Amino acid sequence: MHFPFLPRPAHPPVADGETLLETVGLTKSYAGADGELPVLSGIDLTVRAGEIVALLGRSGSGKSTLLRCLAGLLPPSSGTVRYRGTPLTGANPGTALVFQTFALLPWLTVRQNVELGLEARGVPARERARAADQAIDLIGLAGFENAYPKELSGGMRQRVGFARALVVEPDVLMMDEPFSALDVLTAENLRGELMELWDSGQFPTRAVVLVTHNIEEAVLMADRVVVLGSRPYGTIREAVDVDLERPRDRDSAAFDELVDRVYRIMTGRPKDTRPAEPPATGRPDPDPDRHERRTVANTPLPTASVDGLSGLAEMIAHRAGRCDLADLADELGLDIDDMLPQVDALDLLGFAEIHGDDLLLTEDGTAFAHADVQDSRALFAGAALDVPLVKLIANSLSGHPGATVRTGFFRDLLAHHYTSEQVDRQLETATDWGRYAGLFGYDAARQEYRSDEA
Ligand SMILES: Nc1ncnc2c1ncn2[C@@H]1O[C@H](COP(=O)(O)OP(=O)(O)O)[C@@H](O)[C@H]1O
Ligand SMILES: [Mg+2]
Repeated sequence: MHFPFLPRPAHPPVADGETLLETVGLTKSYAGADGELPVLSGIDLTVRAGEIVALLGRSGSGKSTLLRCLAGLLPPSSGTVRYRGTPLTGANPGTALVFQTFALLPWLTVRQNVELGLEARGVPARERARAADQAIDLIGLAGFENAYPKELSGGMRQRVGFARALVVEPDVLMMDEPFSALDVLTAENLRGELMELWDSGQFPTRAVVLVTHNIEEAVLMADRVVVLGSRPYGTIREAVDVDLERPRDRDSAAFDELVDRVYRIMTGRPKDTRPAEPPATGRPDPDPDRHERRTVANTPLPTASVDGLSGLAEMIAHRAGRCDLADLADELGLDIDDMLPQVDALDLLGFAEIHGDDLLLTEDGTAFAHADVQDSRALFAGAALDVPLVKLIANSLSGHPGATVRTGFFRDLLAHHYTSEQVDRQLETATDWGRYAGLFGYDAARQEYRSDEA
């Protein structure tokens, strides 16, 4: 589809399968308190005409950062981003973005909001209005041209976001978690309509890059799912081709199979970081990585509260100590990926293990799930002391009754390895775990940990 009123063609035609956008050896670091912190490393990604590519990963894996590099809004720290063969030196002229939050200007009408993108490109007023109305029509907003954002529901506002991006007919439409601020039904509806437009060839773009943390959404929409891992920093773990027929059937066995496969890639450990067992004498170690010691640097704490991870442990216990996570998520009406931090936490504490698609409680995990409050705290303390950050805080205080250590001390140590946001989240988790375990106390007003010993 083409909006005939615009001065065109902006982008010469390309055949399906030809490369539109690519990154070669892209790395990106942000400035941390203690120098540069890598967020993305060694990213080689190609986006071809005719395809939808999903960038899938957990929160913090660098998806938005990668998208902004592709859009030319952030310069890479090293490596190149090429659009139609030319390295980017600034904003990518072939892309438009849709964000999670709608970023509409409240004092402008729907039509004026949609026209914004065209104004920036110097399109005359008359043509702007006609093209905007076409985009508004295409995206199901007809009749709302003169409405203001505050009069619209979330779903309708996001449609304005789409219309504003599509009206410039970008070569590559980029969306950063565009459905995650919407309620489930609204999101499902909007996804369905966009896919219909895409399938019918009415979508005025040649390719789409979708950032999401939702596995099913990625498999539903994308031709290729690129899974980003975040240990220790964002790299491409694996790219999975989705060659399911469109429109896709969520209830088909083939769909389930792909969701399971992607889920395994997301939860799989690139490296087992459990404490070392002494290698058997005389024989070469089959897997030297297994003996890597867990340290604060290689063992980030997932964002999971004790309440949350106990809740999950109890649910698995009720299911005889073993359950398929996808099924459990379905049963609870949750997205699998929302449960992953808790799964990681149980794994880190040695309370559960991942076997294929299943989550199994360990012996300790079973005891923890069934214990009364006092026993549960003791069990948790034992497990948490194997977690490097919790252990570090506890050790810094132990043997010194009445001692205190300021959080800044740990903040500085962590700043060598993590961004300040990651540091905050990990300290919050460590505090929650350590207090529950009775390993140390915490004074929020004074920002310090204190020894709980009498
Ligand atoms: N402007 C910034 N300055 C410093 N750190 C940042 C900045 N933006 C993102 N980060 C950090 O980079 C990591 C990746 O962030 P992001 O790309 O937003 O991940 P995602 O979109 O996958 O959640 C996170 O740990 C985040 O804290
Ligand atoms: Mg993001």
